[in-house]
Amino acid sequence: MKNIVEVKDVKKVYGKSNEKQTEALKDISFSVEKGEFVGIMGASGSGKSTLLNILSTLDLPTAGTVAIDQKDVTKLRGNQLADFRSRAIGFIFQEFNLLENLTVRENIAIPLSLQGVRPREIKERTEKVAARLSITETLDKYPSQISGGQKQRAASARALITQPAILLGDEPTGSLDSKSARDLLDMMEELNQKDAISILLVTHDPAAASYCRRILFIKDGVIHQEVKREGKSREAFYREVLAILGNLEQ
Ligand SMILES: Nc1ncnc2c1ncn2[C@@H]1O[C@H](COP(=O)(O)OP(=O)(O)O)[C@@H](O)[C@H]1O
Ligand SMILES: [Mg+2]
Repeated sequence: MKNIVEVKDVKKVYGKSNEKQTEALKDISFSVEKGEFVGIMGASGSGKSTLLNILSTLDLPTAGTVAIDQKDVTKLRGNQLADFRSRAIGFIFQEFNLLENLTVRENIAIPLSLQGVRPREIKERTEKVAARLSITETLDKYPSQISGGQKQRAASARALITQPAILLGDEPTGSLDSKSARDLLDMMEELNQKDAISILLVTHDPAAASYCRRILFIKDGVIHQEVKREGKSREAFYREVLAILGNLEQ
């Protein structure tokens, strides 16, 4: 099976050699197959966001390589990098990062507008992804006029409209109430299972992680443990995750 993400021997040190240095990632290697739904967990400060920033090509590793959709992104620079990022990677964040003075429709369309796609195709694709995420009725509203759950769906629609190779989420349920968080996770699970969208989700919430098929636990800058959901119910997997988190803290 083709790997959508391949991380090899990644290290990240913050701070120049003459400053105080933090070794956020010591040696991380893993891969994500096409169509997988993988979670990354770890305590606050364990390096989750650092890893996600590197995967999303917003930051470079100090050493090691990262291939997304078989392309070594650590070698890309400038326009090539920006172009690759906008086509191959979709992100959703804890803060939805919608532009407040644009409508939901305009927000979702941003990546296509930047790519110079024609207005008619933009309209079609925007309406299609909005319908997929059940936010058609919000399209002509502004972010301030919709709920948190709808905002995160709009941000997800914007992330998915380019049909990226992978959807990356950094605590995407972190600002949502528990019902909206569950709805978003149900939607991610459905996108993964029905549309075969590959998803990598960083979270410290065991309930969110229990939706994943496989979870990597980071501790002290390395992958400390890995678990698979396999045939387990979400409830059983949730309890397993809780137990692992309890052990990790010791
Ligand atoms: N820009 C930065 N400059 C210096 N240190 C950083 C920076 N970003 C993160 N760190 C440090 O790297 C470590 C990992 O942080 P982070 O990746 O944000 O962890 P997490 O997302 O798991 O909470 C922490 O010790 C943090 O203080
Ligand atoms: Mg973080």
